[in-house]
Amino acid sequence: MRVLFKIWRNLCRAALALLAALCLALLAHGCRPPAPSEPAGDAAGRPTLRLFLLSNVAGVLEPCGCTSDQLGGLDHLAALIEAERTATSRSLVLAAGPLLFATPALARETAPQLRWKAEAVALAMSDIGLAAWAPGASDWADGAATLGRLRALARADLLGAKLDAAPAIVSRLYELRGVAVGVLGVSAPAGLPGAVRAEARALVGRGARLLVALVAMPRGEALRLAEAVPELDLMLLGKPSEPGELDDEPPEPTTVASTLVVQTANHGRAVAIVDVLLAPAPEASAGARPGRAQLHLAVREVREAAGTSPRTAVRLRDYYRRVDEHNARVYADARPPPVPDGQAGYVGAARCGSCHEAALRQWQGTAHARAHETLTQRFAAHNFDCVPCHVTGYGQPGGATVTWGEPLRGVGCEECHGPGSLHCEQPEQQGLVRVQPEPQSCAQRCHRPPHVRGFDPVAKMALVLGPGHGR
Ligand code: HEC
Ligand code: HEC
Ligand code: HEC
Repeated sequence: MRVLFKIWRNLCRAALALLAALCLALLAHGCRPPAPSEPAGDAAGRPTLRLFLLSNVAGVLEPCGCTSDQLGGLDHLAALIEAERTATSRSLVLAAGPLLFATPALARETAPQLRWKAEAVALAMSDIGLAAWAPGASDWADGAATLGRLRALARADLLGAKLDAAPAIVSRLYELRGVAVGVLGVSAPAGLPGAVRAEARALVGRGARLLVALVAMPRGEALRLAEAVPELDLMLLGKPSEPGELDDEPPEPTTVASTLVVQTANHGRAVAIVDVLLAPAPEASAGARPGRAQLHLAVREVREAAGTSPRTAVRLRDYYRRVDEHNARVYADARPPPVPDGQAGYVGAARCGSCHEAALRQWQGTAHARAHETLTQRFAAHNFDCVPCHVTGYGQPGGATVTWGEPLRGVGCEECHGPGSLHCEQPEQQGLVRVQPEPQSCAQRCHRPPHVRGFDPVAKMALVLGPGHGR
């Protein structure tokens, strides 16, 4: 489904200069939506300008690829925006919430990988033409110097924060072929409405025909801000921080007073396209601001079907290769924790198969046996984001690491039956392996969102069994 919904807003109002404020109409209704590339209704058949809005990209380049047709992929997003941009000669790409990193701090081991991923996100944003974003707290995860460097790579303005100081409101006027759009960023906590309103009025004073706020704040506070600053035409909402790797279910767009408030799905899974139809330029009368703009919103999911930007696809590929080469080399000596005395370590499927030949053969026909190969094909075989679920006993005593454990590649017997070294030594002794693996643990550890949705562990466990193995 290309278009989820649209909101028509048609609002007139008068005088900034404390004359009569006359709100004529505020219409929000969901009639049959035209595709976003269709005209927003002016005589020339084109919107005055088109905005592309993104919330909470949070350092995600693309979905993991564990299941088919997952949403997201900055290479697809870039292609989508490139195609939709042609509908108008004026467009602006804006974002709110964490852009580069998801976590407030980087663990030492994974820091290089996360830094390069953030760099690839920044480069993708420069491809896409991001003009500005209001950062979330995690954008500082690697310090202000890295943020400054990545901002420069993205060639985007950081609004709503100063690199060298506490968060603040920062705004900028973008001149789009004779139309000035005022964009202000807010990522500071409460207590701001007065300052934001003053900033908004200053932008109008400088000729802004449209006012957009990029806000990285808790939703409740953001909605109160929208109420307190009626000058805003549009508010793009991002989170102050991204609580985890999960995909979110963003709230529906809403209108607060006269401000359209939009939040898109995180991780680049959707983009909001807002077509703006400006009222005629102001009469010379008494400094009055012209009538409010009409906004037409369409939310587009980002999928493979949107096409692929070759340039951005190369950014992604380069990231995977760089990490793969680096991790293979730098973590070549990474070993799992030692096996405590008296406990079992991991031996690998081949060893189990030396006694359980039929079970081994049956397992070899399952996707579990190929789970590591599938990463190799994608240059992800040493990637911290991927390896843990695609090998056996990752990080466990005597288990696998991103480089260690050749016999443990793929999801082997011991992922279900438990580490088996003691059982191999004393097969007759009861209780040294799990005889009936618990299906729920598959759902908790690996077959879980965002990688896999709607997993039925009991039904699926039956599928990994077959003649010679449990049947
Ligand atoms: C040296 C041969 C040998 C090796 C190696 C071996 N097993 Fe076994 N395994 C046996 C024997 C023999 C039994 C049957 C013991 C019994 O009847 O009590 C058994 C029983 C089992 C059972 C329980 C079957 C049941 O119905 O009670 C499971 C599960 C199992 N093995 C899994 C594994 C796994 C996983 C590995 C690799 C970590 C492994 N085995 C390695 C010989 C081996
Ligand atoms: C939380 C565990 C987990 C992580 C982390 C994970 N995967 Fe997976 N992956 C899975 C599971 C489970 C499947 C099997 C999905 C299914 O078939 O239902 C899978 C399947 C796959 C497949 C096979 C898809 C197919 O259609 O055959 C690929 C490719 C893959 N993952 C790539 C990746 C990459 C690349 C990463 C890192 C960016 C990654 N995975 C990280 C759990 C994970
Ligand atoms: C995805 C989880 C999973 C993997 C991987 C797995 N098993 Fe099993 N295995 C099971 C389940 C579930 C049963 C059936 C338990 C029951 O009877 O309820 C089972 C049963 C068994 C049994 C006892 C029944 C029989 O047919 O002998 C043995 C032995 C066994 N597995 C060995 C292996 C070996 C060896 C491997 C690796 C080559 C392996 N398993 C891989 C889940 C797994």
